[in-house]
Formats: sequence, structure tokens, C-alpha cells
Amino acid sequence: MPSLNEIRSTFLNYFAKQGHEVVASSPLVPRNDPTLMFVNSGMVQFKNLFTGVETRDYNRATTAQKCVRAGGKHNDLDNVGYTARHHTFFEMLGNFSFGNYFKEEAITYAWELITKDFGIDKNKLTVTVYHTDDEAFAIWKKMGVPEERIIRIATSDNYWQMGPTGPCGPCTEIFYDHGEHIWGGPPGSPEEDGDRFIEIWNVVFMQNEQFEDGSMRNLDMQSIDTGMGLERIGALLQGSHDNYDTDLFKALIEASAHATGVDPYGAQNVHHRVIADHLRSTAFLIADGVMPSNDGRGYVLRRIMRRAMRHAHLLGAKDPVMHQLVPSLVRQMGGAYGELNHAQALIEETFLLEETRFKQTLERGLKLLDDEVEGLGEGVALSGEAAFKLYDTFGFPLDLTQDALREKGREVDVSGFEAAMAEQKAKARAAWSGSGDAADASVWFDIADDAGVTEFLGYDTEVAEGQVLALVADGARVKTLAEGQEGWAVLNQTPFYAESGGQVGDSGLMRRLENMEQVSRVSDTRKHADGKIFGHMIVAGEGGLSVGDTVSLEVEHGRRSAIRANHSATHLLHEALRSALGDHVAQRGSLNSDDRLRFDFSHSKALELDQIKQVEADVNAYIRQNAPVVTRVMTPDEARELGAQALFGEKYGDEVRVVSMGHESGSG
Ligand code: ALA
Repeated sequence: MPSLNEIRSTFLNYFAKQGHEVVASSPLVPRNDPTLMFVNSGMVQFKNLFTGVETRDYNRATTAQKCVRAGGKHNDLDNVGYTARHHTFFEMLGNFSFGNYFKEEAITYAWELITKDFGIDKNKLTVTVYHTDDEAFAIWKKMGVPEERIIRIATSDNYWQMGPTGPCGPCTEIFYDHGEHIWGGPPGSPEEDGDRFIEIWNVVFMQNEQFEDGSMRNLDMQSIDTGMGLERIGALLQGSHDNYDTDLFKALIEASAHATGVDPYGAQNVHHRVIADHLRSTAFLIADGVMPSNDGRGYVLRRIMRRAMRHAHLLGAKDPVMHQLVPSLVRQMGGAYGELNHAQALIEETFLLEETRFKQTLERGLKLLDDEVEGLGEGVALSGEAAFKLYDTFGFPLDLTQDALREKGREVDVSGFEAAMAEQKAKARAAWSGSGDAADASVWFDIADDAGVTEFLGYDTEVAEGQVLALVADGARVKTLAEGQEGWAVLNQTPFYAESGGQVGDSGLMRRLENMEQVSRVSDTRKHADGKIFGHMIVAGEGGLSVGDTVSLEVEHGRRSAIRANHSATHLLHEALRSALGDHVAQRGSLNSDDRLRFDFSHSKALELDQIKQVEADVNAYIRQNAPVVTRVMTPDEARELGAQALFGEKYGDEVRVVSMGHESGSG
């Protein structure tokens, strides 16, 4: 029986032999698609190749792509653990043609791979085509598939779209019939949602592009995008219809059983399944640079982690569990995804931290939930107020509460929850605007309320795409900045560092994706609305800039490197001062820009010349050590304990990034 690792290799090798470039999975956080929360299919990293905005030196590619479907158009979170094949994380195997081959070759390759290399019985396969696609129908017939097993489907099931906008097209899907002993019917029948007929491969004929206003155009090139879930094909080739019955999942489920001491395949199996699934998505998200937080992507991560923790709690775990499972995941998947090995310590620490903290409120929250439910009549929903209290006081994400109630057959009054949330936001805002900070602050809070947070991508990359969520000129929101006009652009994500902790904001370029020649210069980046959104100070380039534009963002690399070097040097300077003058030396402020640094510190008298010389010599010696810079994440308390020296004057969230150089450490 082939393992999932072997099946992945067979797939990639097959397409490599057919002249496809084997391309690595892109990170889960899409750099080149600001409309998506997470990469949700193999084609995302190639989106601009389909639309013709970008070209590469290959026109055939194959990948095993990491995907997360937990938010947005494709969201499977609620079904995980309860069905045979829903996941928050999965791997999509795919082959792609960029204006090279089209329907005939794509279908031929797919058929050959599954019936020959994978050896799947042809008689158990059924295919679907989009109802008007006579060409695909005829090709399948030519391949020898009997007409009664080529089903025409008129719905969106056979017209694939990655999201509300982007490249799309009709598709053909291949289904495997697991046999009469399993409930379900062929695609298009009333029983199609059963587990008997399972879609194993989706082959999309990319030929259109969908726009925000609902219009559509024909793409210049006809291309191919395909997706086969590794977990599904793995189950099939290992003789099951249940993805959680595969070698990889069994290993994770058994690790969960070992850590909790609960039978892996008994009545509590569902909890082990949820844990195994959530372990994968959360570990991979952390490896790709997402950290738990209360907004945006970080909140999706936190929600999934906390759900997993509740299931560990239901298994009776008294101590944190998730971090104990990481080695098992790394054993299973680290070979194919080296980032897991690199990030192993970070993943374990993040889990332990999050789980230790959530444990403090989880039990009390669950008790409150039980008390609330006890007083309710049969089938009555939990009030929005109670759900909000669980959220606000006990850190229960709404979907965690919903997941907990699902077992009891109850729902939550979601609109009541939302109303309570809105009320709290309004109060927080009133308190803030009363505090007398910058007069134009309310414009930024308005933007944050409508548009949400700016996600910072700059720890990992200096180049990314973002979407213009709002523009501000002369303290007021505007729809457009005309060419030459100065203003602030707020983006949904950015690699630009915004001024904070004494480090100046990044500068660089912002190009309109529709016309990369139209460039706006970014001269500074600042945080607004309590750090929720980043404003990019720009002078709009040719063609101006409008809300809704997608832009390509490039940080000015040389300047950022110089700023970073000065930032590192303040930490070295601090260390040298402490060793020359004593441990009482504390940082009082600092400025890190590209051409200089300033470091304010406390000491009762002016420095002697020989002390200055000593400090200078020490700092230079530290620099010459050229020690590697290591980044870890911990609570502010832990960071202080370790001797982090720059936890000062800045507003820190729950976690801090601690950067250490040799024996030296500081946060930044
Ligand atoms: N992009 C297609 C899918 O996700 C192949 O199903």
C-alpha cells in the first residue's frame, strides 16, 4: 500500500516526466493575492500566469500545494472531524498548463495517471462535465468512458472559481465509486452528498476572468489548472473512503491517543480526528509566519488552536497536548516540507504558550456555558450576550462556542453576539477619542471599522501584493488620489514596516497591478487606529490611485537593511553599555533610521572617554562576531526572564518576537 509520501512523489514524478516543472508549494499566506486569506488551491501561486500579467520560463508546472480552507469562500472548519473528508489543511496535487496544452492532453494525462500508475479500476470511475461542454464530453467518450458515466452538470459544481474575482472556467471532475455498501449516489443525484461517489480530481479549463463588478472576460490563453486532494486519493489507494484512515492521519491520531491516554479508535475518535486536522493547519500556518492574535489571519489561527484545545480537554487532558504532537507531524511531513523542521521549536513554543494561557479560562468558560445551557428550554439558542461574555471574558471564539453547542444540538444567537460586539467597539472608540490624541484620529478608526486590519508580511518578505482599502488626503477619506497628489494609502496587507519601537517606517514603491508602469513612491509607513492599520505615505504616480486597486509593493531594500542594521546595533550598544557601566543601564528610548541610530539610556553621570572607547570597542567586537540572528516568540514575562532588553515604551501584544544575536537579546 503506498504511503501518502509515496503517492505525492508518484504524482509529481509522473508530470515531471511529461515535461512539467516541479514547483515548490507557495507559503499559505498568499503574497501575490491580496484578496485571499489563505492559499486555498494549487493555482493561487500561478494566478497571474493565467491572466497574462506574469510570464515565467516554463509553461507546464506541477505542485503539491499546502492549502488551508478555514475562512472565505472555501471554508471547511465546521465539518472537520465529523465527516470522512473535510480538513482545514490539505495538500492539493496539481498540474498546470499556461497557454500550452488544453482539454485533450489534460484529460489524457489524468486518465493515464489514475488508471495506469495508480492502477485504479476504470469501471469504478464516473466523470462529470459542464452541461454545455460537448468537447470535454467527446474526449471522455474517446478515452473509453461509457456515455452513461459521463454526467453533464449545470451548476457551479462544474464551473470553478477561486473566489469572487480571478481566473475561472468550466471543469471536469473524476469520481470514484466506493461501492453499494456505502450510502450515496452519483454526482447530480439527490444522494450525491453521500460518501459512495467521491470526487478525486478536478480538472479546470481556465478560460475566463471574473471581475468584482460581476463582468467576465475571455482570457487570452487557454490554460489548465487541476487539483487532486492527496488525502482523498491516499484513502482510496489505501483501501478506505475515509481520509482519516490513511497512514499519515493514523500516525497523528495515535500520537494524540498517546498524549491523552485515550483509545484512538474508540468512542472518542472524533476528538482525535479534530486534533489531528487542526494540528496540521496550525503548525503549517505558524511555519509560514502567522502568529496567534486577535485580528485577521492570526485570529483564524488562534480560533483553530483553541478549538483543538477544547477537544483535547474533552479527552480529559490535564496538561497541554498540542505541542507534544509536533514531533510526530514533523516525522510524517518534514521530509516534503522542510519549513516544518525549521520552525519546529517555534511551533512547539507557540502551542505551549497559547495552550497554557487558554487553559486558565477554558474550564471556567465551559462551566459557564453549561450553566447557561442548563436554564434553556429544548432547542433554544444560546443568547448572543452569553456567547459574547464567553468571547470577551474567557477567550472563546464564537465558532468554538458553536462547536461546543453542536454536540448538544443547540445554536447561538449570532446576531445578538454581533450586536454585543458592535456595542463594545463603540464604547472602546468613545473612550479612545475622549483621550485627546491626534485630532484626525477618527478617520483612522472609521477605516479600521470598515476595512479591518492591515496584515504585516514584512518579517518574511520585502515584496508582496496588497489591496487599497482606503485613501486619506488632508485628514479626510477620498476615493482617489490624483497623479501627483499626496496622501495615505491603507492596504489589507503589506511588507512595509510601520514606524514603531523607535524604528522608522519603510519606504519603497507601490505599482498598480493593472499597469506596473504606474508607480507611486512610498516615503513613510505609520500605524494608525491603535496599530490596527498601516498608512503608507505616498505621492500618487501616473494614473493616480483608487480604493480597490491591487498594487504590487516593494520595500526599498537597501534602506530597510540599513535600518535593520542600526536597530540591531542599538541592542549591541545596550549590552556594551551594561558591561561597561553596570546592569542598571536601562533603555529610555531609541531611534533607528537608515543613516543613524540614537540610544537614550539612564546613567547618573556623563561617560568618561575611556568608557566611551571601551563601549565602542565592545560593539565593534560584537559586530565582528557576525553571530546568527535567531527569532523566537514568547510572552513578555518570559522575554524579560531571558534578559530581553528592549521591552520598553512600546505597546506589546500577547506575544513578543525576541531576536537574539549570539549571547545578546532584545525584542524587535
Ligand atoms: N483549482 C481547482 C480546485 O481547487 C483545481 O478544485
